[in-house]
Amino acid sequence: MSRASPAVLLRMSAVSFQNVSKTYATSRGDLHALRSVSFDIEPGEFFGLLGPNGAGKTTLISILAGLARATEGRITVHGHDVHDDYQAARRQLGVVPQELVFDPFFNVREALRIQSGYFGIRRNDDWIDELLTGLGLADKATANMRQLSGGMKRRVLIAQALVHKPPVIVLDEPTAGVDVELRQTLWQFVSGLNKRLGSTVLLTTHYLEEAEALCSRIAMLKLGQVVALESTSALLARAAANVLRFKTDAPLPADIAAQARITGRVVQLPALDARAVEHVLSLLREAGVMPEDIEVRKADLEDVFLDLTGSGAPGVPSAPSNKVSA
Ligand SMILES: Nc1ncnc2c1ncn2[C@@H]1O[C@H](COP(=O)(O)OP(=O)(O)OP(=O)(O)O)[C@@H](O)[C@H]1O
Ligand SMILES: [Mg+2]
Repeated sequence: MSRASPAVLLRMSAVSFQNVSKTYATSRGDLHALRSVSFDIEPGEFFGLLGPNGAGKTTLISILAGLARATEGRITVHGHDVHDDYQAARRQLGVVPQELVFDPFFNVREALRIQSGYFGIRRNDDWIDELLTGLGLADKATANMRQLSGGMKRRVLIAQALVHKPPVIVLDEPTAGVDVELRQTLWQFVSGLNKRLGSTVLLTTHYLEEAEALCSRIAMLKLGQVVALESTSALLARAAANVLRFKTDAPLPADIAAQARITGRVVQLPALDARAVEHVLSLLREAGVMPEDIEVRKADLEDVFLDLTGSGAPGVPSAPSNKVSA
């Protein structure tokens, strides 16, 4: 087992992805799920990993968790290689998988005790009680896993991932399909761990308002490549300051349609300032389009995300502050 000196540990990243590539051999040829992904997550960071379906987020997390092997490159957790030093790396990690997997034969408390046992922890009930309370599961402790709703099972999965108090918490779409109450409970609890214990958090989500509110830094993946790696505020600063939104049934003039994001009747356009808004409205008037429900809103992370990862828009690679290959 590799051991790092205390001086090295002091400035060691919590997670370091170093030129990670993953190629799946499929019947239709090689599928490059990850292409030389490199970035570091610092201890105590709340880090967001975003990208459209199929971008490679779960693949990267599976390699981090030791469930899949990288074709090239390496990942370390607090300096421990996830492949060569698997047990030490795994101990540092609490991973909540995207898929719901559970053992139907146990009740909630038993499942958490068994998970504690995997990590060699006995008499863990004080922490298990804290997890049950913090995740709103206190009244389900003796319920069988089969009797739980989907959202409740997800809470148990989160509790299972945290049972050994891991310094690095990895959440792969923990709020997919869960109600508003659980989302709030979960974020309160995980933010508490991040602030109180200094836990590092790696989160993937398709709820971009969650990422905007919680994550201090974000990486965006597109087709297995990092297309942005910046602080959340720097990413937001990339967006046009405002977005003009209106509804119409009429066809749009070509130059407006080219810049617009159109969802059914809803049209959204970047608009820097009042002059830009007035310009668009005058073009619409000239074209005989009568926009309804006009509003101007501040640009958000979704606007940046669609710019960087959307199929229509070109992926604009930023210059990632890539510590590893620098
Ligand atoms: N076992 C596998 N065999 C072949 N291809 C795979 C395998 N697992 C994933 N892929 C492919 O790798 C790519 C990345 O998938 P991945 O699940 O990592 O995406 P994701 O970013 O997590 O997407 P989502 O947001 O839908 O969860 C996809 O094209 C997927 O089809
Ligand atoms: Mg996924």
